[in-house]
Amino acid sequence: MKALVLAGGAGTRLRPITHTSAKQLVPVANKPVLFYGLEAVAAAGIRETGIVVGDTQAEIEAAVGDGSAFGLQVTYLRQSAPLGLAHAVAIARDFLGEDDFVMYLGDNFIVGGINGLVDRFAHDRPAAQIMLTPVADPRQFGVAELDSTGRVIGLEEKPRQPKSDLALVGVYLFTAAIHEAVAELKPSGRGELEITDAIQWLIDAGQRVESTLVTGYWKDTGNVTDMLEVNRLVLESLDTRVEGTVDAESELIGRVVVEEGAVVERSRIVGPAIVGAGARVCGSYIGPFTSIAGGCSISHSEIEYSIVLPRASISGVGRIEASLIGHDVEVTRAPATPRAHRLVLGDHSKVQISC
Ligand code: TTP
Repeated sequence: MKALVLAGGAGTRLRPITHTSAKQLVPVANKPVLFYGLEAVAAAGIRETGIVVGDTQAEIEAAVGDGSAFGLQVTYLRQSAPLGLAHAVAIARDFLGEDDFVMYLGDNFIVGGINGLVDRFAHDRPAAQIMLTPVADPRQFGVAELDSTGRVIGLEEKPRQPKSDLALVGVYLFTAAIHEAVAELKPSGRGELEITDAIQWLIDAGQRVESTLVTGYWKDTGNVTDMLEVNRLVLESLDTRVEGTVDAESELIGRVVVEEGAVVERSRIVGPAIVGAGARVCGSYIGPFTSIAGGCSISHSEIEYSIVLPRASISGVGRIEASLIGHDVEVTRAPATPRAHRLVLGDHSKVQISC
């Protein structure tokens, strides 16, 4: 069995972060979200992995390399444009050959891995096996309709009137039968080759499509709210580890990680929280569920329930909450007079100012 990990895409919901970098590399507890997926693939005993990449190919390649760090053998597959999940399968046709494969969306986060799923598929070998989870608003997802035995009888992409509350999770298993379906597809209303249409084609052709309900936790980290929530969840299982320097005037409460070369001075950190390698925290408060990446500087500020990407600097500002702060960002205090906000914001930035 092979794996096809999707790490291209437009990432519009995570702009402006995705203007300059890959959303799959946004760190969760200081580790790129994509790495959790690659670890799950490796843990399921799969080695040969194709990673579908787009404009951020160089960055993904620099982070993942040849895959050996994960126990994987990685081939990069360039997608000319994000033309849909089924388009990603189409461009991977030669790489996949006639093998069974697991398709894993590189921005999805699944607790509990995929071993059970892969084992079941290898045993039953339906044409496709999908993962489902009940969601509050199915209209934003691919939605499945099941018969009484749990077999999938219909699929719809973002339906206005969903036939169930069961949304497709970003892990799919296929035999080579999917390629015939993909070859027959026409672009959908939104101009993409939809994987739901390909699976529907299999159903219509009388092929077996099975489903499994997700038992553990699953999130698509495509937007900031879900990204922060996944960060919270991963930090919950953090163990205390202090490899950097913490001065006597600082206080670490609960489970806090201070990575090597990080310096904490005159600060209070309430875990679970992580301060990355070489970061500097000075005269500040870091609250629960916060990940500060390597090389950041936080001084005379307060921050909670947030993710700060490498080398950002936050200085002399009040409290920051529920925020995602990009690489090399500078947040500083404005001069006392005139009382005004001075902003240099990239396209599609989102700022909430409390006056
Ligand atoms: P999505 O989150 O569905 O799409 P997107 O990345 O374009 O994001 P947005 O909706 O915010 O614009 O994609 C799921 C995963 O699949 C993600 O890791 C990106 C990847 N992907 C590809 O590799 N190629 C594609 O053509 C598409 C649509 C997605």
